[in-house]
Amino acid sequence: MTTNIRMQRYRRSEAMRRFSQEIQVTESDFIAPLFVREGIDTPEPVGSLPGVTQWPVAMIADQAKTLQSNGVEAVILFGIPLAKDAEGSASYDSNGVIQTAIRNIKKACPDMLVIADCCLCEYTDHGHCGLMKDGELQTDDTVVLLGRIAVSYADAGVDIVAPSGMMDGMVSGIRSALDESNHGLVSIMSYAVKYASAFYGPFRDAAGSGDGFHGDRKHHQMQPAQRQEAIREAELDVLEGADFLIVKPASIYQDIIRDIVETVDVPVVAYHVSGEYAMIKAAAAQGIVDETEAFDEVHLGLKRSGVSKIISYTRSL
Ligand code: PBG
Repeated sequence: MTTNIRMQRYRRSEAMRRFSQEIQVTESDFIAPLFVREGIDTPEPVGSLPGVTQWPVAMIADQAKTLQSNGVEAVILFGIPLAKDAEGSASYDSNGVIQTAIRNIKKACPDMLVIADCCLCEYTDHGHCGLMKDGELQTDDTVVLLGRIAVSYADAGVDIVAPSGMMDGMVSGIRSALDESNHGLVSIMSYAVKYASAFYGPFRDAAGSGDGFHGDRKHHQMQPAQRQEAIREAELDVLEGADFLIVKPASIYQDIIRDIVETVDVPVVAYHVSGEYAMIKAAAAQGIVDETEAFDEVHLGLKRSGVSKIISYTRSL
């Protein structure tokens, strides 16, 4: 021994380990995804996401109450409409599935923070995240629609709008639309750094956005090889007025999370996505890992990387 320092002193007992713990994960760190589906009367479990359910609109307020009694303070809503068309017109209907869900949750639990995903992919019959013309994404026209969706959510009482389509200019377009309609205090949580990932598969099942979808999202989502570009995406969204940034997927992109936390001065949120969740569930079901320990470790890792909040299906109902 060249020194009398023994690192194992910190680890000697459970009490000592707890006493020296640097990072804590608590229920208020989580945002629970909730899927709301129009036209069903009973809950439908999502096959590819064990533990996650599509809820009828009429049951959503009760789910929010249950989550609140579990200690969850924020939800992110995804809608599955009955009818889809080329323009995704059900997305901005003031009586649409999300708008109704927002009103119902806010009425039943005014303290629950409600975030709503703002994208066209669940509402278009072609499944793309934006308007299409001759096989090409129409980004600028899509941004106008996203503004319209955001205003309809704000009218229903949403706290935070979360644009997830990686459309250039979406944050500034939504910010102007909200401000012009007197919703200057509604926040934007932008999916600023979203990679074209193999790990979104189960979500497309849960959100019904995979039906009829052919192709990929590589024209607008980032290539996994990029690091510098992620910082630029994050900085741009902050400049455009984003109040929170999302990085997704989460666990395989913790280097990126760290870069962004160190670069921008808005809270960063990790989205532990459907594929990341489903893999742990599958491994646990086969006895390969302990489910609770595995998820706890992932969540600690994300907090250690510096995120403020974690979107996790472990908090879904
Ligand atoms: C798009 C959206 C997606 C996810 C969240 N919002 C899917 C996609 O881009 O294909 C993925 C979330 C997950 O996999 O858990 N509205």
